[in-house]
Amino acid sequence: MSNARTSLTRRDFLGAVGATALMGAAAMAAPEPKSDRMVRMGIVGGNFGAQFQWHLDPNCTVEAVSDLRTDRREHLQHVYKCEKPYESLEKLVLDPRVEAVALFTGAPDHAQHVLECFKHGKSVISAVPACLTLEDAHAMKEAKERTGLTYMMAETSYYRWPTILARQLWKERRFGRFLYSEVEYYHNRIGALQDGLSMDQGKRTWRYGYPPMLYPTHSTCFHVGVTGERLTDVSCLAWGDDDPALKDNAYQNPFCNQVALFKTSGGNICRCNVFWRVNSDGERAQWLGEKMSMYMAGVSGQPQVIREFGKKDVREVPDYFPLLPEPMRIATGHGNSHGFLTHEFLMSLVENRAPAVDLYEALAMTAPGIVAMASSRKGGEQMKVPSFDKA
Ligand SMILES: NC(=O)c1ccc[n+]([C@@H]2O[C@H](COP(=O)([O-])OP(=O)(O)OC[C@H]3O[C@@H](n4cnc5c(N)ncnc54)[C@H](O)[C@@H]3O)[C@@H](O)[C@H]2O)c1
Repeated sequence: MSNARTSLTRRDFLGAVGATALMGAAAMAAPEPKSDRMVRMGIVGGNFGAQFQWHLDPNCTVEAVSDLRTDRREHLQHVYKCEKPYESLEKLVLDPRVEAVALFTGAPDHAQHVLECFKHGKSVISAVPACLTLEDAHAMKEAKERTGLTYMMAETSYYRWPTILARQLWKERRFGRFLYSEVEYYHNRIGALQDGLSMDQGKRTWRYGYPPMLYPTHSTCFHVGVTGERLTDVSCLAWGDDDPALKDNAYQNPFCNQVALFKTSGGNICRCNVFWRVNSDGERAQWLGEKMSMYMAGVSGQPQVIREFGKKDVREVPDYFPLLPEPMRIATGHGNSHGFLTHEFLMSLVENRAPAVDLYEALAMTAPGIVAMASSRKGGEQMKVPSFDKA
């Protein structure tokens, strides 16, 4: 977690950043459960999918779990204290007691698995990315609008605490007229032949040779999820090495590092990196505005800093845990975002409203990467990103 603490007092912080930016965090009382409705979840995918807080939310009960692998199914049962395992998602969705599914299967399966859930009347929170092709994006949008079911993408960058703060500052129009964002996700060696996540017992997993820009959302979310802008045009340069995984893979992908330059619907600019061969790691952004800039902490030692014209630098990020019900305030990976994703999806169902990262936002974070990949295949040609917004 990158919420660097300094000797700044709370009053200094409020004065420098503004009371509103802190609202909803330390200033807020713990939320009481708004309803006694219990959402009955089915959890699918027992690796990353076991890292959420469904069993701790006052408005949720874990009805069933599933993984194709027995060990992972048992792990899910243990974590979520659930006595009903299914051998597959396809069997779990037949259970009429399951209302909604948390889908944490491999990326290439998301679109098909979301459609399978919708077909059986289940709402879905899905791991990133939303999908891998524009055709699947269209199909998901069509099915979501036809069924009226809820979709949310579990994008961890959305609820990193500096992102929550940047979103608030954007809402207050503090950055000024111009914003340039640098957004990035670095995961050294993933996708390569020698990577433990890409080979499992001698067999290739979905990560083997996986294209960086088909995993864009940890990065694009830092722009789209803060500003609500759309990434409309892209030119993407790419680099690949001689790893065997880039010579022969399921995606015909020769790239391991990609740099996309996006135009945005608000006339702004976003530089977006996804690198699999780099001596760095993590998800990070900096937002450089006409009047205010914000730098997230980074592995290089860069501290979290907000720099605003005429004011003292601010290096603090509020504690946002008070936004969650008490039992869910536990540290998690990805900047403590997991509890926030869990709770937001459940509240969207309880309150019968769209979740923060609904399908429109999810596709606005995913489709630009799909087009960036196409641009890289054409040597960086500038291309238009289609809109998947509500007509
Ligand atoms: N920060 C983040 O947001 C973040 C971090 C890690 C992973 N992820 C995403 O989460 C997803 C899962 O990642 P992972 O590392 O756990 O992947 P994984 O490949 O290790 O696990 C996926 C699991 O899904 C199961 N599965 C596949 N098809 C199934 C079916 N039809 N029915 C039941 N189970 C099925 C597999 O058996 C496997 O155990 C991926 O999409 C990944 O991109 C996101």
